[in-house]
Amino acid sequence: MVDILLGLQWGDEGKGKIVDVLAPDYQVVARFQGGPNAGHTLEFDGIKHVLHQIPSGIFRSDCLNIIGNGVVLDPIVFKREIEGLAKYNLDLRKNLIISKKTSIIIPTHRLLDAAYEKAKGDSKIGSTLRGIGPAYSDKVGRQGLRLGDILSADFDKKYNSLVDKHKQILDFYSFPYDLSESEKEFFAAIDFLKEFTILDSEYIVNDSLKKGQKILAEGAQGSLLDIDFGSYPFVTSSNTTAAGVCSGLGVAPRQVGEVYGIFKAYCTRVGSGPFPTELNDDLGEQIRQEGREFGATTGRPRRTGWLDLPALKYSIMLNGVTQLIMMKVDVLNFLDEINICTHYRLPDGTVTEQMPFDLTDIQVEPIYKTFKGWKCSLEKYHTYNELPAELSAYISYLENELEIPISFISTGPDREAIILKEAVAS
Ligand code: GDP
Ligand code: IMO
Ligand code: MG
Repeated sequence: MVDILLGLQWGDEGKGKIVDVLAPDYQVVARFQGGPNAGHTLEFDGIKHVLHQIPSGIFRSDCLNIIGNGVVLDPIVFKREIEGLAKYNLDLRKNLIISKKTSIIIPTHRLLDAAYEKAKGDSKIGSTLRGIGPAYSDKVGRQGLRLGDILSADFDKKYNSLVDKHKQILDFYSFPYDLSESEKEFFAAIDFLKEFTILDSEYIVNDSLKKGQKILAEGAQGSLLDIDFGSYPFVTSSNTTAAGVCSGLGVAPRQVGEVYGIFKAYCTRVGSGPFPTELNDDLGEQIRQEGREFGATTGRPRRTGWLDLPALKYSIMLNGVTQLIMMKVDVLNFLDEINICTHYRLPDGTVTEQMPFDLTDIQVEPIYKTFKGWKCSLEKYHTYNELPAELSAYISYLENELEIPISFISTGPDREAIILKEAVAS
């Protein structure tokens, strides 16, 4: 079976940590979309690791890690990431494979990202500027480069032809650039990539399923950043929802088993776009500090706010979530009272629990239910039954409302800081 783990909010829910925790149960961990816009943090043995393109099963030696065809890969970031891992003696040539059909981000994609954002002015997306949108545009526009192309004799020709097209756009935007250094680094990274296993990974994935092995598909970003269902245009350029797994790895829908939906006990968002429960006050700042809410990729401060049930229910529906994982509960330890948004009031007074199509253009008023805080450290708790009554009440309320069990509760960044609530189905 392919189980899926994905974010139900606007990204940074803690996917990296949980993939690392679950990985020992899986023979394969695979990324199916996104690229170096992702920053997935893992913490164990007192060391913090941030992965951008490499799947989060990489520290489990028995696990094969796959970068799937649905990903956009930046060779320069890849090389740096691999070099950063050198000191951990991982067998990366054996434990990591990449699809020939993975799209390549070239240096001009990053320039185009910056040029488009600059031209948008105040209405900019707040992109991570990693070239994601332009690389996916070239893929869909049927003119992109794929990893398999680096093995062909005319790769340079293909590359130059695409760069020429990009230069015309950059000139149109009067965007200044100097490609000499980044091109040198790019071609060095292409040579470096050739040392890795590059193949049609859909065969590996399906052979592995035939053998009865378990695959964990690791989502990047979050469902509310999905190109189809997110707060368009303030989204990323891929399908971050469960549907992306089939096209991003080459597996049939009937192979999908568990869908783990992961969410923070509050909300964060990086970049622009609607955020109905945002706290633009001291409390929002306190949550940012307590949760160390600064981007793992860009270092930008993350916007913070209360948990948003209409948004969460929407994500659960789109993904067919079978188990929930609640993260960063410990960040709320300091609060006397905790709010959860249950509904939105629209400008015409209507109360709804659906996501309005025009959320980007209208102001919705969140309607809150208030809970009593537990006001204590959660460090000493290791089982669900001993948790403070206020926290149990908070969890029970969510399970009732969301109609899905919360299987894990995460109480800190470390691999060990996790409370298992229900037996995980296999
Ligand atoms: P991802 O993109 O979904 O993998 O999440 P990020 O790594 O971008 O952001 C999650 C951040 O929260 C990281 O700094 C993690 O180390 C941290 N983190 C994960 N789980 C917990 C938790 O339960 N409590 C606290 N306080 N931090 C956590
Ligand atoms: P992980 O996997 C949080 C956001 C950006 C921006 C929008 C578009 O770590 O959860 P893009 O670079 O894709 O053009 O940016 O999406 N964004 C993320 N926010 N976590 C991420 O990844 C994100 N990847 C992109 O901030 O608002
Ligand atoms: Mg992240």
